[in-house]
Parts: sequence; C-alpha cells; structure tokens
Amino acid sequence: MRLAERLASPKIFLAPMAGVTDAAYRILMREHGADLAYTEMVSVAGIHYRSDKTWELVFPHEDEPEIAVQLFGSVPDQFEEAAAKVVERVGEKLALIDINMACPVPKVVRKGEGSALMDDPGRAADIVRATKRGAGDGVDVTVKIRRGRTVGTELAPGFAKAMEDAGAAAVAVHGRFASEFYRGTSDWSSVERVADAVSIPVIGSGDMLDASTVARVLEEGRVKAVMVARGSYGNPWIFEDSRTILAGAPQVEHDGLERLDALEEHIRLLISTGAHLARARSLVGWYLKGMPHASELRGKGMSCSTLDDYLELIGFAREQLR
Ligand SMILES: Cc1cc2nc3c(=O)[nH]c(=O)nc-3n(C[C@H](O)[C@H](O)[C@H](O)COP(=O)(O)O)c2cc1C
Repeated sequence: MRLAERLASPKIFLAPMAGVTDAAYRILMREHGADLAYTEMVSVAGIHYRSDKTWELVFPHEDEPEIAVQLFGSVPDQFEEAAAKVVERVGEKLALIDINMACPVPKVVRKGEGSALMDDPGRAADIVRATKRGAGDGVDVTVKIRRGRTVGTELAPGFAKAMEDAGAAAVAVHGRFASEFYRGTSDWSSVERVADAVSIPVIGSGDMLDASTVARVLEEGRVKAVMVARGSYGNPWIFEDSRTILAGAPQVEHDGLERLDALEEHIRLLISTGAHLARARSLVGWYLKGMPHASELRGKGMSCSTLDDYLELIGFAREQLR
C-alpha cells in the first residue's frame, strides 16, 4: 500500500531503534496494533560491501506482514545500490524505505551520516534522489530528521522542504536537536513548524511515551502519524491503548501477570526468530519496571542465559504476585 493511502487516517508506527527493533520486537508490536514497524538503521556501505550481518537486519521474518527499512550512510551511489537491492530482496513485504538523517551518535556523524546530513542539504537531496532511482516508482522514500543539529539553530522546516522538493514522500521529525541526544523534552511545536512548511505528510516523533500522549497528538491532527520509540519498552499495548483512548474509552491497565505473559511471549519470539537471547536481558528490565521485587528480579535476570533460566525467573515473578 502506498504511503499516501496508508496515511489517509491517523497511524501509529513503531520507530526505528538500533539494537531494539529486531524481528521479534516488530512482530510483537504489530500484534499489539502498530500500523507499521521499522528496522533499525542499516548501513548502505554494509550493503555495498556485502556484509551478511547487515542483511540480517533487513530481511523480514516469515511471520511479519511487512516492514519499513531504514538506511543510513553518506554516499548517494551507495543509497541507489542499497535501495535497488532492498527492493529486489525484500519484495512485496517492503512498505517503504526511510533515510536516516537524524542519528546523533558521534561515530555516525563524524562520517557525514545521520544528522550530519542536515548541515549538507545538497548532499541530502542527492541521497533522496539516488534512493528514489534505486527504489523505482513502486516504493515510497521518506526521510527522518531532527529539529536541527545544535541547540538554538532550527533547521528542520527549511530542510524538510528541500527533501520534499527532492522527492521525499513524507518526513518524520524528532523534535530534539541532535546535540541533545535524548535529553530534555522533544519540542512538539518544532514538528508543527515542519508541518506548516511542507505539503507532504509529517510523522511526529519524540516523547511519545504513553498512550494518552499518542492519542492527544493524533487528535490534534497536525501530523498524519506518530512514531513510538521508548514508549514501547515493556509496553507493547501502547499502540492498541492509544486507539482505545482515541475512540473515547477509558485508559486500560495492564497488571503484573499480563506483563509477565508479554515478557514470556517476547522472549519466545526472540527464539523463534533466531535472535540472540542476550537481547532478553534488557526486556526483563523493561517489563518488570515498577513491579514488586523488580530490582532483585533484574539482578537474577543478569545470570539467565537459556530459555529455561528465563522461564524460571518469570515463574518466580508470577509467584510474587499471587
Ligand atoms: C535505543 C534507541 C535506538 C534508536 N535507533 C534509531 C535508529 O536506528 N534510527 C532512527 O532514525 N532513530 C533511532 N532512534 C530514535 C527513535 O526512533 C526516536 O526518534 C526517538 O527515540 C524519540 O522518540 P521517543 O522520545 O518517543 O523515544 C533510536 C532511539 C533509541 C532510544
């Protein structure tokens, strides 16, 4: 389905998160109502140099309906090549290709990638055009940006317009400056200024941490979609709960037993999708947050290494709730 059609009504997407949004994560969030789920950022240089590890990040699992693939890099030709290969190898399950122009991590920015592209709109526009050439007419190409690079210099509205002119089908905006990383609060008015500056759809990102915030932002109607990132940690229900609130129903509570069931399902998904079980450690912290004996259980989680270890831990946590 093309993006314009997809965004005909307000949508809630799972944001790209490096080290987090693997197939297991995406499958679970889609089951709980995410309208689309992104891969983590994937290096176009990694694709160019035929790294198998890079491709592992791209391929959807057979249980996934579709995926959005996010690419990062700085060389337009590599984007063209990567987009063509992604279209060919992901096929029907490819919802769109997104270009990361938002990452603030020094080792990325130093190479002119991620948010560094916001200081080089000419190259960024070349990258959009190159990606579109590689992707062909059938696949939408979008960009994800930040408010700007350094605090006080807001680049997003003008930059987003330049990306629209280069052919981007939508722009996702995280309302923090890159120099803020994830500190402070995301400035929603900066996302709205982008919406005022462009005619393509705007996807809002930043501090979508609970269902009532997501519902409020979608209700305000300034963006066509929001991306949920950290708000999904240990809370896959954020997607369906946001819809419940949007429909005027009261907020739903998820008790400890329900959270433990979700943790178990998530860990089983890691196994069925072939992911490394080391990923389960952060999941334990996220799902147990705020529960009785959480810090003791987190400590025990650190020594878990097999599914049985985790099931024992979850069983123990269930006992504490009874
Ligand atoms: C662990 C982590 C990894 C992230 N990785 C990516 C990434 O690969 N690509 C990207 O565009 N944004 C990435 N982000 C940014 C998120 O997509 C999102 O824009 C940001 O977290 C703001 O949303 P939030 O405040 O609701 O978490 C990452 C964020 C986190 C916390």
